[in-house]
Amino acid sequence: MRNALTDGRDFKLGLFSPNCTGGLAVTKISERWGATWEDNLRLARLADEVGVDFILPIARWIGYGGETNFHEGVLEPVPWASALLATTERVVVFATVHTAFNHPVVSAKQLATVDQVGGGRAGVNIVAGWNQPEYHAMGVELPSEHDDRYAMAQEWWDHVRALWTREGRYDLDGRFYSLKGVESMPKPVQGILPVLNAGSSTQGRAFAARNANFVFTIIGDAEEGERVVAQLTASARADYRRTVGVMSPAHLVCRATRAEAEEYLHYYAEEYADWEAVDNLMRLQGMHAQSFTKEMLATFRSRFAAGHGTCPLIGSPDDVADEIEKYAKAGLSGMTLSFVDYVAELEQFAAEVIPRLEAKGIRLPRPALR
Ligand SMILES: Cc1cc2nc3c(=O)[nH]c(=O)nc-3n(C[C@H](O)[C@H](O)[C@H](O)COP(=O)(O)O)c2cc1C
Repeated sequence: MRNALTDGRDFKLGLFSPNCTGGLAVTKISERWGATWEDNLRLARLADEVGVDFILPIARWIGYGGETNFHEGVLEPVPWASALLATTERVVVFATVHTAFNHPVVSAKQLATVDQVGGGRAGVNIVAGWNQPEYHAMGVELPSEHDDRYAMAQEWWDHVRALWTREGRYDLDGRFYSLKGVESMPKPVQGILPVLNAGSSTQGRAFAARNANFVFTIIGDAEEGERVVAQLTASARADYRRTVGVMSPAHLVCRATRAEAEEYLHYYAEEYADWEAVDNLMRLQGMHAQSFTKEMLATFRSRFAAGHGTCPLIGSPDDVADEIEKYAKAGLSGMTLSFVDYVAELEQFAAEVIPRLEAKGIRLPRPALR
């Protein structure tokens, strides 16, 4: 392997959504994450240095409204990944691709190029689609049947894989894309890029079990994580004779004391939450995705403001390390972290929490970069 992401040796840590304004925090505070290129470059270099395993972007085409128009500004994941890979040494950078908006021949070549730039450190996060207003903005109908979204994603991925592995010129037939006399060079350095898929519905998890290295799924807590890991591992093995890892996203507020962390959480995610954007985001999730259960959507309003409905990691360095340990013990392969200020807070996380995770045996120390 050219990178450590899929070696299974320890609990992997990623960063999620730094390419989007606000990150995952639906907040009005003026110091919210600006997601500029300079921010992302500083963050990726820091992530590389402190041994973060991967960076995962969101692909988003229109904002969620509210006072901040949450996720209004989004650096497009493919050029973003390419540029970050050119300026880092070991971190894996994913590109997130909507199958319905991206032709497989174009994506195959783009992603192969990105992997060439990164010397074999690129990954792909496949999005089958859910957010109907984006489809309208694109002039594309969101397949109304959940099954169809995943049928299209499957065909897209089968074609991309064929383009990465077959030589010469050939036809690729299908229900959504029939390609005559197609070819694709260069190939990715890795042969086939590591795949994340973030579906949480039955069909989404089945797609991931069949195709992905990691299912990136929303869970309520570590106990639920344990059940999801057992179920997904069993179905990947039984249905597809494959192994698949499970990861989940989290938002993190770490301060010297738990009281300080909770105070900051209250400040950005209660007092200054962009509630209109939160409600729009939750409404769209409820209508078009099955990522969050009805119970989650009924009770997670604060969690959406704090971190887009992801798991909270809030407290002192000891609290945060103990909480991450629970997810590792539940069998998750890793987690992504999102912060209000990714750079300053990752610096603190690396100094205070990573050594605690290493002491617990959850993380192996990463060698210093040259
Ligand atoms: C960690 C994570 C990352 C995701 N990234 C994106 C993304 O970048 N763009 C997007 O449109 N949807 C994204 N999604 C949504 C999923 O790809 C998926 O479409 C959604 O969960 C609905 O599918 P489902 O109904 O099968 O759960 C993400 C979801 C999760 C949990």
